[in-house]
Amino acid sequence: MKRVQVVIIGSGPSGLMLGHILHRAGIETIILESRSQDYVLARVRAGLLEQGTVDLLRDNGLAGRLDREGLIHHGMALAFDGERHRIDLSGLAGGKVVTIYGQTEVTRDLMDARAASGAPTVYEAEAVTPHAFDGEAPRVTYVKDGVTHEIACDFIAGCDGYHGVSRASVPAGAIATYERVYPFGWLGILAEVPPVDHELIYANSPRGFALCTMRSSTRSRYYVQCPLDDRVEDWPDDRFWDEIRRRVDAPTAEALVTGPSFEKSIAPLRSFVAEPLRFGRLFLVGDAAHIVPPTGAKGLNLAMSDVRYLAEGLLEHYGEKSSGGLDAYSGRALDRIWKAVRFSWWMTTMLHRFPDQTAFDQRMQEADLAYLVSSQAAMTSLAENYVGLPV
Ligand code: APR
Ligand code: PHB
Repeated sequence: MKRVQVVIIGSGPSGLMLGHILHRAGIETIILESRSQDYVLARVRAGLLEQGTVDLLRDNGLAGRLDREGLIHHGMALAFDGERHRIDLSGLAGGKVVTIYGQTEVTRDLMDARAASGAPTVYEAEAVTPHAFDGEAPRVTYVKDGVTHEIACDFIAGCDGYHGVSRASVPAGAIATYERVYPFGWLGILAEVPPVDHELIYANSPRGFALCTMRSSTRSRYYVQCPLDDRVEDWPDDRFWDEIRRRVDAPTAEALVTGPSFEKSIAPLRSFVAEPLRFGRLFLVGDAAHIVPPTGAKGLNLAMSDVRYLAEGLLEHYGEKSSGGLDAYSGRALDRIWKAVRFSWWMTTMLHRFPDQTAFDQRMQEADLAYLVSSQAAMTSLAENYVGLPV
């Protein structure tokens, strides 16, 4: 039977980042991924990195292209009731900024780094299954090209996303889950047009939420809230552009440059947390452990702070023969996760139109927004959460 120190299940950003840090520290890993490399790279996700995420990438030698191509943002805007209000993020949050750089690009950089390191990744691994993680000798089995493989290890990192096998392998009585499903989706497009503004605009309108974001100075990403049962075919480009114009303030609508979209997809919105994140020698990391709605772009950033905590614990285990960091992992990670879950839920609740929204709910939303842009304290709270709470 083959043996490595840590088996990583999943080659999304969590698995790749963890693998990279461990490899640099001389800890042997294998990554088992059920999909193909191209499939993983083709998934379009959010694109906003907190300072802590950028620092983690940079400290691990992964920021070459990010430093050249990432767009640094000092502020963002909220549009509602016909007006646009800028939030001075860096001014309010002690100089911290956010960086626009697509998750797809982060994933590509991480895959390139792993390929260069020579550390193994098995793509299209079928039936990946963790075993015996409640004891001292965990194993992972998988099938590749019809052949069953078995790997013995010290630890298993479940970095396999919301639908992965890791969380599903935990006995039901050992895990608690918390969930809110939102009654709408986000329809997102990518288009080769310059962004309407150099910063992001989050809009609350009677027709629903809209977000103007970007990937570069020539590539835009736009989202509108849509009913959950809408299909992409219901939204030809013209309809999309008309709709977003009607949801933003007039100057923004006028400045909007439209063009053919080259990607269009609908994503549901969900808040989800599993507790705890450690089951003997199995750890849950990233989307395997939690999901946040995209409002505020916390998903990837939370995954990166989980990875940081777990990597610290593993390095301490192998380097100092101390279990302190691993014992603390679940608590440390969950403390930060719940705060990001709260922030994403609050942003989502404040900015979307809910199908069952009462007149009272509506007034609360208006008061929330009006208070926010009139209070230095409230804007500071938004800013410190948006740029990322301390890791
Ligand atoms: N066996 C092996 N791999 C699996 C399995 C399985 N049974 N199930 C899922 N996977 C793979 C998926 O194909 C995917 O490539 O695990 C990977 C999980 O990657 P992500 O879903 O991207 O999750 P994660 O790496 O935690 O990334 C952080 O935060 O909010 C999000 O959009 C953000 O995707 C980003 C995530
Ligand atoms: C994105 O650029 O795709 C993005 C940015 C901010 C969000 C969500 C998505 O809150």
